[in-house]
Amino acid sequence: MAAKGKMKLAVIGADGQLGSDIVEIFRADHHDVVPLTIGKLDIADSGQVPRVLAEVRADVIINTAAMHQVEKCEADPLKAFTVNALGARNLAQAANSGKARLIHISTDYVFSGSKMEPYLESDCPLPLNAYGNSKLAGELFVRSMAEKHYVIRVSGLYGKTPCLEKGGLNFVDLMLKLARERKEVRVVDDEVLTPTASKEVARQILKMLKGKAENGLYHATAEGSCSWFEFAREIFRLSHSTVTLNKAAPGEFPAKVPRPRYSVLENANLKRQNLNGMAFWQDALAEYMLEKHGIGSAGSQ
Ligand SMILES: NC(=O)c1ccc[n+]([C@@H]2O[C@H](COP(=O)([O-])OP(=O)(O)OC[C@H]3O[C@@H](n4cnc5c(N)ncnc54)[C@H](OP(=O)(O)O)[C@@H]3O)[C@@H](O)[C@H]2O)c1
Repeated sequence: MAAKGKMKLAVIGADGQLGSDIVEIFRADHHDVVPLTIGKLDIADSGQVPRVLAEVRADVIINTAAMHQVEKCEADPLKAFTVNALGARNLAQAANSGKARLIHISTDYVFSGSKMEPYLESDCPLPLNAYGNSKLAGELFVRSMAEKHYVIRVSGLYGKTPCLEKGGLNFVDLMLKLARERKEVRVVDDEVLTPTASKEVARQILKMLKGKAENGLYHATAEGSCSWFEFAREIFRLSHSTVTLNKAAPGEFPAKVPRPRYSVLENANLKRQNLNGMAFWQDALAEYMLEKHGIGSAGSQ
């Protein structure tokens, strides 16, 4: 690491939702950031990964890249494992060669959802689908191989850069669009999660590095939890929308692939080290809507 705490970072998936916020937050804090998009580095390419990362010579490698569209992973589990599991293994090997710290992003979908109370890092994962299994395998490669690592599970991400893999509209932006186009919006109320702003995760990663967090597995999601219906209700409240919001009937939007009904994570490892910087989901949502859409202000009615 360079003098005065300045770090050199390789950010993989740099044009994605989370990757672009990481680039912005770390540059604003005056670190040397090398953004790597899939055109420059495909994590599934075991020959390219060591070559590119040896050229960059970063102190910290942050991997946000993934195949994470659940239906696509279910249809092509080989590709899901090639990117999400073997890609993570390629990065762990390259990180060790360059003595870099690897920060690898994972997911709440490693859990089955049957616990029905917030999951701790020490809880046993049991994924319900190919995406979750491939991400869990990626976590294990990083945890067992990378000498210096943080594996960070996030959930329900939304950020100002569109997530192309999920159609270019995150849930917040989709709800705002539907509210403009329709009289009524119907949303499921039987899936509970913690929506998390990608900018908050980027800030949290910076805090972990500066605070010299221990090696290991972390949950880093917003505080609190809600159903998708409750999330939509807060979006419409903050945007003063008059659209009618109703709960979807059971089975109205059948999921094609099984997914956890409850995937709230507790940031226990961050809290134990006094490093939890994650805001309540309502406050982070208000900040996002003000910044991206110029709508409302924190706490507005
Ligand atoms: N989004 C969520 O709600 C959510 C929830 C829980 C966990 N996560 C995890 O959070 C992380 C970041 O998600 P995100 O929402 O920021 O995703 P995103 O917006 O789709 O960004 C991912 C980026 O990775 C790139 N990428 C895909 N395959 C790659 C490969 N083989 N090599 C290099 N780059 C590749 C994508 O490029 P292209 O767009 O060109 O393919 C994209 O720029 C992922 O690990 C995901 O599993 C996300």
